[in-house]
Amino acid sequence: MLNKTLVTFPTLTTERLTLRQLVENDVQAIFLLRSDPVINKYLDREPSQTLEEALQFIRTIQTNNLLYWAIIEPISGKLVGGIGLFNVSNEGNTCEIGYELLPDYQGQGFMNEAMKKVIAFAVDILGIKAINAFTHKANQPSAKLLQMLNFEQMEIIDESNPDVIVFRLLN
Ligand SMILES: CC(C)(COP(=O)(O)OP(=O)(O)OC[C@H]1O[C@@H](n2cnc3c(N)ncnc32)[C@H](O)[C@@H]1OP(=O)(O)O)[C@@H](O)C(=O)NCCC(=O)NCCS
Repeated sequence: MLNKTLVTFPTLTTERLTLRQLVENDVQAIFLLRSDPVINKYLDREPSQTLEEALQFIRTIQTNNLLYWAIIEPISGKLVGGIGLFNVSNEGNTCEIGYELLPDYQGQGFMNEAMKKVIAFAVDILGIKAINAFTHKANQPSAKLLQMLNFEQMEIIDESNPDVIVFRLLN
């Protein structure tokens, strides 16, 4: 959720990307992302079946002031992925991170770049001390990305889904 001290949504920029707030006009791109079978392969969610479901997702993010960024490739203006900080603890010092990238944009270090920026934002602006990431045990691209960013694999078992591995980054 947006921190009380944040008045407006924080747009972030990296060398190759802009991370900005989702808007309803993103519905087509969000539908592509959330209905893509490659992206959904290891995600514990129902793939979007309709544009209406994608719109509902955008509205849920907006209504709850969630910190979910649309990842934009600025030259084309195309929405190529999404990244979010979720479930910020009541004490405000732990949260979860989730991320997804269109298959055509994978393998180029885009998510690594976006993650670094969002992690720096979480630590420096929100004061987050521990960031958790939950990933399916067979999701090697995700595990590799997390390890590159110095997340450590935890021994914790997610009882609701034993196929999930918990990674944690401590500040
Ligand atoms: C998880 C996911 C985002 C990883 O995507 P990715 O493209 O592998 O990650 P990056 O964008 O950081 O790119 C890293 C790759 O680009 C390469 N690369 C090229 N230039 C690079 C650069 N400048 N910096 C870092 N890596 C670079 C790396 O070597 C790596 O390739 P490799 O895996 O073949 O070695 C992607 O697989 C995905 O969207 N999956 C579906 C959603 C999902 O499972 N989310 C996780 C659970 S929330």
